[in-house]
Parts: sequence; C-alpha cells; structure tokens
Amino acid sequence: MLLFLPACRQASPSPTTEPTSPTPAAGTTQPDGGDSATAEGDAPAPTGAWAAVRDRGRLIVGTSADYPPFAFYTDDFQLDGYDIALARLLGERLGVDVEFKDMAFDGLGGALQVGQIDAALAAISITDQRREQVDFTNLYFVSEGAALARAHAGITIDDIEDLAPYRVGVQAGTVYQVWLQESGIDKGLLQPDNLLVYTDAGKAVADLRNGLVDVVVADLLPLEVAARDSSLAIVGQGLNRQRIAVALAKGSTLLSPINEALFDLQNEGELARLAELYLDLDQTELHPLPSPEAGATATAEPERVTTACIDAMTLIEDLSLDDDGMRFPPPVSPGTPFQKSWRVQNNGTCTWINGYILTPVGGNVPQATMGGVPTAINGPVAPGETYDLTVNLVAPLVPGIYQGFWSMRNPNGLLFGDRLSVGITVPAQPTPTPPPTATPSPTISFTVDRSNIRAGECVTFSWTVTNAGAVFFYAQGQPIDQNQVPPNDSRLECPPVTTTYNLRVVLSNGATEIRSLRIDVQPSTEAPLFNSFTVTPGGQIVVGQCVDVRWSVSGEVTNIRVARNDVTLWNGAPLSGTSRDCPPAGEAAYSVEASGPGGTSRALQNLTVIQATPAGGTATATPSPGQLPVINSFTVNPNQIFVGTCLTVAWSVSGNVSRVQLRRDNVLVLDFAVFSGNVTDCLNTEGTYVYRLDAANNQGQVIFQQVSATVVR
Ligand code: ARG
Repeated sequence: MLLFLPACRQASPSPTTEPTSPTPAAGTTQPDGGDSATAEGDAPAPTGAWAAVRDRGRLIVGTSADYPPFAFYTDDFQLDGYDIALARLLGERLGVDVEFKDMAFDGLGGALQVGQIDAALAAISITDQRREQVDFTNLYFVSEGAALARAHAGITIDDIEDLAPYRVGVQAGTVYQVWLQESGIDKGLLQPDNLLVYTDAGKAVADLRNGLVDVVVADLLPLEVAARDSSLAIVGQGLNRQRIAVALAKGSTLLSPINEALFDLQNEGELARLAELYLDLDQTELHPLPSPEAGATATAEPERVTTACIDAMTLIEDLSLDDDGMRFPPPVSPGTPFQKSWRVQNNGTCTWINGYILTPVGGNVPQATMGGVPTAINGPVAPGETYDLTVNLVAPLVPGIYQGFWSMRNPNGLLFGDRLSVGITVPAQPTPTPPPTATPSPTISFTVDRSNIRAGECVTFSWTVTNAGAVFFYAQGQPIDQNQVPPNDSRLECPPVTTTYNLRVVLSNGATEIRSLRIDVQPSTEAPLFNSFTVTPGGQIVVGQCVDVRWSVSGEVTNIRVARNDVTLWNGAPLSGTSRDCPPAGEAAYSVEASGPGGTSRALQNLTVIQATPAGGTATATPSPGQLPVINSFTVNPNQIFVGTCLTVAWSVSGNVSRVQLRRDNVLVLDFAVFSGNVTDCLNTEGTYVYRLDAANNQGQVIFQQVSATVVR
C-alpha cells in the first residue's frame, strides 16, 4: 500500500510547501525548493528535484512490475509495459536518462517521500487521500475496475452486492481493497471471511484458476491479460473509474516539466501510440483525458495509515552471484545449496528492528523462490545504516534460467523498498560449484554446512588440512592453544549468537594461516499463532452437506495448508480465509497447518459424516466454536545433539485449555501436563526425533505444534 500520511493540503500544480523528505536520493544535493519551476527556456533555472535530476542526468522512476500490460518483465527479464515506455518518453522529453527501480507497490509512497525515486509510474490511481502524501501529475490514462472469474461459472458482477456470495481476491494496498472493505464489508454487504487479500495480484489470479477464489477485482486491463487464458473471463467492468497519473514527492518541482511533457506527448499522438502498442486500444476506445481536477474521483480511497516514520530501503550492491541485470545469471548446479547476499541501506526514517523481514515475493516461475524462506533482520538497523542481507537457497533441479524476487516487509506486513532479485542459470550439465563457504587454499579446506541459523540450531564444521604441523579450531575470543584438533575432522557447534570460528593452521615450515567462517545467528522466533479456527457446522453432518473451515493466523508464516484427513485441500492459502469442503461418509479431520521459521502450528477439528438423517431429528449438531487454546512457546534446545547427551523440551500454553499432551515420534510421553513446563530428554540413538505438543479445549478443538531435533554421532 502506498503509505499515506494524513497531512491535509489542497493539490495544486504550483506547490508551495517544502517536502518532508529527510534523506535525499543519491545524487540529490538539495531539497525541493518552494518555487514552481518550469522547463528550460525563458523560465527561471530549475530548482529542487528538477534541478537535481538535470544535474544527475537521470530520472529515477519507481515502478511495480507485477501488473501487465502496465509494467512487467519480458521472457528475457527486461522491464516492459505502458508505464515503462511512457517513463522512457518522459525522460527523452526532459533530456535525461531513465533508471527504473522495481519496488513493491506498497513501498512507492515511502520511496517518493524519502527521495529514493523521483517519480512513480505503476498504474497508480489518483485519490484524495493519496494526495495528502504525494503530488500527482495530470492523468495519463483512465482505467476502470473489473471482475475476473472462471469462465462458465455463471457469475455476473454489476455492483458490489453481486460479490456477496463469492470469495473475492484483491491486491493489498490497491483502491480495490479499500473499496471492498469500505463499501462492502464495513456496510455489511460482504462477509469479512470472503475477502482474500494478496500481496501479489498474480497469486490471486492463480488461486482463481485453482478454484480457491471465485472472483478477482483489479484494473480491467491486467485482468484482460489474465483472461487471455480461456478458462477465465471478465464478468464485470466499469466498477469504478480510475484516473492514472505519475506520482511525485510532495512539492516536487518535476510537476511542471512532466505535465508539459505529458501534454506534448498527448497532442503529438504519442500516448495513443503507446496505448495501441501495449494496451491494444485504438484511439476510439481511449477515454478522453479530462483535466486532473475535472474527472470523477475514484470511489475507492486507500485506507489511511498513520505511521510515525517512513520505511524505505535501497539496494547498494549485490555481494554475491551478481547477474549483471540478468545478462549473465551465474551457473549453479541443479540441487546445489547456495547463498545470495545483497548490501542494502535503510534510507527511510524507521529503525529496522526485529519484525522486519526479507520475504520472497515470486519470480519468473514458481520454482524461482528456490526454497528461500522469510529471513528476519538482525536489527537494529538505524536510518542511514547499511546492512548485508543473506538468504539460503537451493538451485532448482530442472535446467533453466531462474529469477526470484525478494522484498522487505515491515512489522505491519507492508512491503517496501527496492525489489531484490537473485538470478541464476541451472546448466544441463552439472557445473562443479564450490560451496560458497569453501576456502580457496589447496592445502586447507574449511567448510560449514550452514552459515545462517536461528538460536538453538547447530552447524557442522569440517576441515581437511594437508602438510600441517598443528591445527586449532576455536571460536573467536577463545584461547587457541587449548583447542588443538586433528588435521581432518568435523565439529558440531550451536552458537547462541553470531560467532566467527577460526581454523588456525601452523604449517610444517612454521608459517601460520588462519581461515574464518562467520555463523549468523538470528534470534529464534515463535511458531505461527492461530487467532481463530472454526469448522461449521461441526459435530455430525450428513453426506452431501458441506462445511466451512475458517482460520486466521498471525506471526511469521511461510505456508498455510488446509487438509481433510491429511489430504491437502489448499496449499499456499492466505493468512486468513475460508475453505468449503463437502466430505464423504466417515470421519473427517479438518486441519490448518501454518509453518514458519519458528516452527509449525496446527489447528484440528474432527467431525463425523453419516449416510442419512437419523429418524426424528436433525443430523447436525453445531457446537458454538469455542475459544481456542494458545501455544505461547514450544521449543527443543539444542535441536542437534550428540548421541548420549540430553536436550530440553519446554512449553507454555494459555487460553481455553483443558488438556496438554506431549508426544515424541507420536508416542505419548506426558498426558495432562502442566500449562508451562519443561522436560529433559536424553537420547542414545542417532536420528531425527519429532516432538509434538497438543493443547485441547473442552470443545474438542486441538492446537498443536511440532519441533524436531537431530541426534548425531
Ligand atoms: N490502480 C490501482 C491502484 O492505484 C491498482 C494499481 C496496482 N498497481 C500495480 N503495479 N500493482 O490502487
């Protein structure tokens, strides 16, 4: 969502207020002046943002390339689309180059405010509330809201009421989300459970295809692109008119030159040419562009978010696996684990503390996530500071070119900053790729299986040294001489905080060489938390009857899976949602499993499905959904130990709990356990052990979490 700060001001083509940008963009040497500057010529010399852009010779344009035909990536990883082509033309008219920054739609407002970008083109609708935070140029396109459904589903949407029976998918932060919320849910016309909010519009369309959502609401043209797949169809349009414009920082002196360029481009027929090329619209289909103040205001306004500070992030450099703008995605052998690191700068005004998370946000193909999971920042990272982000990935098995995207997420769940990308080529012939942590020396090899862990986890170091007099392995700061080790060996270490380990090799000729490996340790996080979980009707139903499984989960979540008797009904489900299922006769155990880096939480409810209505009564008993048990924490520490040593299993539960059980590998070890407690478990056999904590309420609803530990020799 564009983060709009309430700061009432009438939009005016000649801004008179100073922008509040606390951090100028790289190369921006002065804040925008108060004067409205016009393009070169008889006008006074440009000031503010326009002067900075001219001095730099480059206009930095923010976009959000998840919205074809406005902005998208081509098959060969180049940015393209109507907004991209228009920005290039604007650059030409201003006499400067254009540099694009692909960012989460949510983050464009913040990026403008801190001066990270000079302008944003991302099919952005003009709304009064957004005007409180940014300035808009004259509009360059008139769009409309539309609805997409599966073809032949018999759905027609003429008004918001028509959406009532359906599960509706929408992109977070768009005017459509706000419209569905304010004109639908807040007025009681739509069920909150039926609104599924996605960060990525493409994911909403994918779930529509899979039958998990019934209708997707967005701008007409992106939905028309989706409807090229004949299994989908536009089932409503003209839902509300959108005036699309370039967004600028408040008071930016770029307003006049960009408005003049837009005016010329329209008069010369260039806008129409772009519309024909990218939007498949001919002159007659184009809405006439009304003056910015004359057109109908979009009926939907972005929700007002009050933030004390602005989140922004800029990419400084790729620290590993630079793909040179996808010109040379480096080779990584199929199935090989690797790390990607970027140096970024916090150029916002908020300090990144725990809860700021680098999150995978898609890629050219679904496999481009490459097994990456959301990775928390080891903060605090103050405004202005740089920070090195690293993610652990595994190259896909199928040869090809992969480009995955990552975005920063703040604790409110809003994405911001430059979209970070990792591009690799998986070659058909496996390429021997040295593990990134291997040392280059031919006589000393010092490696570790993982260099990024959570507190409580362990890593294994291995080394092979030839021609050595003596070898020492120690954590930095520990005494060296007490830590002599054999020349070929391995060692399990469970550092509680970020620690550097050294291998000190005294060669036979007396020379000393040191190799270092740093293990980054993130504070351990909790498993996802269930805010609600219901299955209605519950108890007993008859064959043919359907149930609604509803859930809402919070915390750090990477995946949500809904299942009946452990058979997946919906994988990759949203944080809160509803899934309808019509089970066959027998027992039906409905579960929602939420996994994240802190562990897995599951909510479970059983019901019985009988063949016919028993004589004299109704077959359904619908107990009112009870208050859920809450698992506050469930940990195993350490989670990797040597044979013959012990670990501690600790838990704490609250909420509506009547029974707590602890299982190890499905064997009940504690029943009616205390609500907060711990046990020591000593293990004598190698292997992986799964501990599970069940907390049940007296309505038969069970929440459980699982954690595992490995015992090595
Ligand atoms: N026009 C809508 C809005 O401004 C949606 C824009 C979404 N843009 C995007 N690049 N995803 O809210």
